Amino acid sequence: MAKLKIRLAKTDDSLSMAEILREIGWSEKRNNMPLEEVANPIKELINHCNEDPNGHTMIVAVDENNEVIGFTTVHWVPFVMLGSWEGYISDVFVSPSASGKGAGSALVKYVMEQGENRGCMRLMLTNGKEKPSYQSGFYKKMGWTERPKVANFVYYYREPWS
Ligand SMILES: CC(C)(COP(=O)(O)OP(=O)(O)OC[C@H]1O[C@@H](n2cnc3c(N)ncnc32)[C@H](O)[C@@H]1OP(=O)(O)O)[C@@H](O)C(=O)NCCC(=O)NCCS
Repeated sequence: MAKLKIRLAKTDDSLSMAEILREIGWSEKRNNMPLEEVANPIKELINHCNEDPNGHTMIVAVDENNEVIGFTTVHWVPFVMLGSWEGYISDVFVSPSASGKGAGSALVKYVMEQGENRGCMRLMLTNGKEKPSYQSGFYKKMGWTERPKVANFVYYYREPWS
C-alpha cells in the first residue's frame, strides 16, 4: 500500500480501533454497543501499553490520509523455560475496507523485527482455524510454524463480548 505507516498507538486511536472491530463484526453484542463504550477499555489498554514499553508494544497502521486502518499488540514475556523472551501477539486486525493491501503483513513484520532487536527467542499467537487468515496461510507465508503437538487452553473469568 502506498504511504502506509506503522506507529505506536495513541489514546486518540481508540475510536478507530473500536470501529475496526465493529467492521470485522465478530461479536453481535459489541456491534450493538455505543462506539464510545467499546473504545473506553481500549483507551485504557493503549495507556497501559505506552506506560510500560518494555512489557508491551501496541502499534497501528495508518494510511496516506492518516486514518488508522489496522492494529496489533505484542507482549514481551520473560520465559524461564526458554531462558529468554517470547513475544505474544494478542491482536492483529485490519479494517476490511483496507484489507489485502499489505497492512496486516506490515504490522506483523514490524513486530518480528522488534522481537529480533530485543533478542527474543520466539513469537507466539493464536489463529482461529476457521478464519480466512488461517485458511489463506497468512502467518505461514511470513515464515511462522504451526505447532502440531501443542493444545491452546484458555480459562475464562467471563465470556468476551458475549
Ligand atoms: C488477517 C488480516 C490481519 C490480514 O490483513 P491484510 O492487511 O488484509 O493482509 P495483507 O494485505 O498483508 O495480506 C497478506 C496475505 O494474507 C492473505 N490474507 C490475509 N487475510 C486474508 C483474508 N481475510 N482472506 C483471504 N486472504 C487473506 C492475503 O491474500 C495475502 O496473501 P498474498 O500476499 O499471497 O496475496 C485481516 O484480514 C484481518 O484483520 N482479519 C480479521 C482478523 C484476523 O483474522 N486476524 C488474524 C488472526 S488473530
